[in-house]
Amino acid sequence: MNGKLSQLRAQIEQLDSLETAPAILKPLLDMMRLPSDQIKLEKVIELVSYDSAIAAQCLRMANSPLFGTRYIETVRCAVMALGLERVRSILFGLCMNRLMPQATWVIAPDAFWRHSLGCALVAQRMAQKIEYPEPEKAYLAGLLHDLGFLVNSVLYTEDFRECLRRAAEQRAPLHVIEAQLLGFTHCDSGQLLCEHWGLPQEFVDAVRSHHDASPLPGAGPLANLVRLSDLLCRVRHLGYGYDEIVGIDLRGDAAWQSLVTIYPALRDMDLVRFTLDIDGAMEQIVETVDSVFGAKSIAASTTN
Ligand SMILES: [Fe+2]
Ligand SMILES: [Fe+2]
Repeated sequence: MNGKLSQLRAQIEQLDSLETAPAILKPLLDMMRLPSDQIKLEKVIELVSYDSAIAAQCLRMANSPLFGTRYIETVRCAVMALGLERVRSILFGLCMNRLMPQATWVIAPDAFWRHSLGCALVAQRMAQKIEYPEPEKAYLAGLLHDLGFLVNSVLYTEDFRECLRRAAEQRAPLHVIEAQLLGFTHCDSGQLLCEHWGLPQEFVDAVRSHHDASPLPGAGPLANLVRLSDLLCRVRHLGYGYDEIVGIDLRGDAAWQSLVTIYPALRDMDLVRFTLDIDGAMEQIVETVDSVFGAKSIAASTTN
C-alpha cells in the first residue's frame, strides 16, 4: 500500500470514534453483515426506536401518500409498512449524515442519495431479473458503492471540491480526476472504510472495483452487478450532480460479459423496458430522498 493510502487508512480509522458517531452505527453494521434471512424484525424495530429522530422520520415516511398507508402510529407498524430494505436505507443514510455531517459534504446530499438509492434499486431489480439468489445483497451493495465520496468530502474537503469542479467542467468521470489530483479515488477510500467496518469481502470488492473496466480477478457477480447499475444510473442522468459524457455500451462491458456467463437470463433482458421501469421508480427515489435525506429533514434530525 502506498504512503497516501496508508495515511488515508489511518484517518478513516479515526472517523467512527468521532463525537458525531451515532450510537446505532455499530449494531447497524452488525446487522448489515448478516444475510438478509437472518435479520430479525424485532432487532430492526429496536434500532429504529433507539433514536427518537430516526423513529419520527420512519413514521413520517410510512405515513407519506407514496405508500398509500395512513394513521401509522407505532414504529412496529412503520417498519412493516416500509419494509426492511427501505428502513435499512433510512437508518444507514441517517447514520452517515451524522458520522460525516452534511456541512462538510462537497457533493450535493440530494444528488448523492439519489444516485446511491438509484443504484441500489437498479442493482436489486437487475438481480431479480437474472435470478441472482440474493437481490437484497445487491441493493445494499448499490447503496454503499460510493461511500468513498463522503470520506473524501470530509477528509479532503478542498481537494475533493476541486476534483468535482474539474470533473463537472470537463464532463469527465469523477474517479479519473480524483486519481490525477488526489492520487487515489473514492473507490479506494470506500474500500478502506468497508474493510475498517468489517463488511463482507463481496461488498468490499464491489465498492473497490465499481469503476474498473475489467472485473476484479476472483470477484463475484455482486461487483459486476454494481458496476452495471452505476453505469446505468449515470447514463440516465442520475449521476453526481452533473452530466458526464458517457458513451457506454452496456452489453459490450466486461462486467456484462462476465455476468452473462453465470446468468444467461441477462442476455435476453430487454434493456429499454428495464430502463423504463427504473424511470417509473424514480418518483419513489426522489420522494424518499427528499423526505428522509433532504436538508430540512436532516436539520430536524440533528436537533433532536
Ligand atoms: Fe463511483
Ligand atoms: Fe456511483
